[in-house]
Amino acid sequence: MTLLADAATQSSSELAAAYRRVRRFTERLAETLSPEDTTVQSIPDASPTKWHLAHTTWFFETFLLRDQEGYRPFDAAFETLFNSYYNTVGQPFPRPQRGVLSRPSLALTLAYRQSVDEHIELLLASGEPNEEQRRVLELGLHHEQQHQELIVTDIKHALAQNPTDPVYRDGEFRLGDTPAAAWIDRPGGVVEVGHDREGFSFDCEGPRHEVLLRPHQLASRPVTCSEYQAFIADGGYNTPQLWLSAGWATVQEEGWRAPLYWRDEGDGHWTHFTTAGRQPIDPTAPVCHVSYFEAEAFARWAGARLPLEAEWEAACDKLPVDGDFADRLLDAGEALHPQPLANSPQGLAQSYGTVWEWTASPYTAYPGYAPPEGALGEYNGKFMCNQFVLRGGSVATPSGHVRPTYRNFFPPAARWQFSGLRLARDAG
Ligand code: AVJ
Ligand code: FE
Repeated sequence: MTLLADAATQSSSELAAAYRRVRRFTERLAETLSPEDTTVQSIPDASPTKWHLAHTTWFFETFLLRDQEGYRPFDAAFETLFNSYYNTVGQPFPRPQRGVLSRPSLALTLAYRQSVDEHIELLLASGEPNEEQRRVLELGLHHEQQHQELIVTDIKHALAQNPTDPVYRDGEFRLGDTPAAAWIDRPGGVVEVGHDREGFSFDCEGPRHEVLLRPHQLASRPVTCSEYQAFIADGGYNTPQLWLSAGWATVQEEGWRAPLYWRDEGDGHWTHFTTAGRQPIDPTAPVCHVSYFEAEAFARWAGARLPLEAEWEAACDKLPVDGDFADRLLDAGEALHPQPLANSPQGLAQSYGTVWEWTASPYTAYPGYAPPEGALGEYNGKFMCNQFVLRGGSVATPSGHVRPTYRNFFPPAARWQFSGLRLARDAG
């Protein structure tokens, strides 16, 4: 099941149902949090839950309601407070200060959501939306889903600062028996990658275009914690030859000795902070919360490299995007953490929905790409500098964001997302 079918072909009542489902889902992610929890910001990169709840609402208000005849903004101050980065709309409130906003309260923020929801539902009840309104509504829902994952990663980071190891969501950690990684042969040649515009995609996923690949191999599964522990034990974090210059500088500055959230308890025993509190590290589970720099250094240590995004897409294009990611994100039964890997009959295991996989590809424009006209042109295009593409999707990714062409992106030092890696190497 996907949360959203193609908006262009949906009736307004179907659109209204999709809207309600996505909006309600966001609120459920905040249900176990106190108003205090939803106000904290632990790093400039991460935002308070309350801000996410408001900003996703601001998106619909700004891009769908504001220009409607007779619409009165819920609160004129919100136009600035909850503008993330759209300079075309106005001057955004600075991101690093989001955590100082004790007001609006969580209750008022939820009232803001409700008010905007009522107006959107009125709009949809008043007739069939035009093409532009459909496009913006659909974008707004996918935007909200991006923020659903950020709610999880950001609150995890905030709660991790608390030495009492608070629980966000309880869950079972399956114990696993991960198969040894195998190398999958992949042919060289010209492949087509990128979105063909059938169904929803973000602008940066297209245009579809040709790429020339060399013959290569991809690992059958992502790197596990035990493999990463071997890198640590072998002095990976003390060996400058393994690191990019900028990566080595970051290791020194930040004092990195292990992935984010890991703690060395002595005698080779490690724990990590998870959304279910502090847990022993399962060596058979995929490693996550590593930066591009760490992924890249690990790959060099392993005598391999990171895949190009086109290599990843060519290999995973036809693999089933299985499992109901949305339900898993909310399922209290299973931990919000990548679980041990299983073998896959397709050869490449766990491509979707386990960990985001760092690729060697910088996040830049595909040939022929142009950002859309207007404020929404600021959505993706202006971030195409100093970031790397991640592929696949994590345990915290909603279902609408798991597809072969999806390009996630973060700066190379970022590690608070559920980011791991899969190895690649050139054919011998
Ligand atoms: C694609 C996850 C990097 O966090 O800024 C949210 C998603 N874009 N609102 C981000 C996004 C606009 C984006 N990432
Ligand atoms: Fe946003």
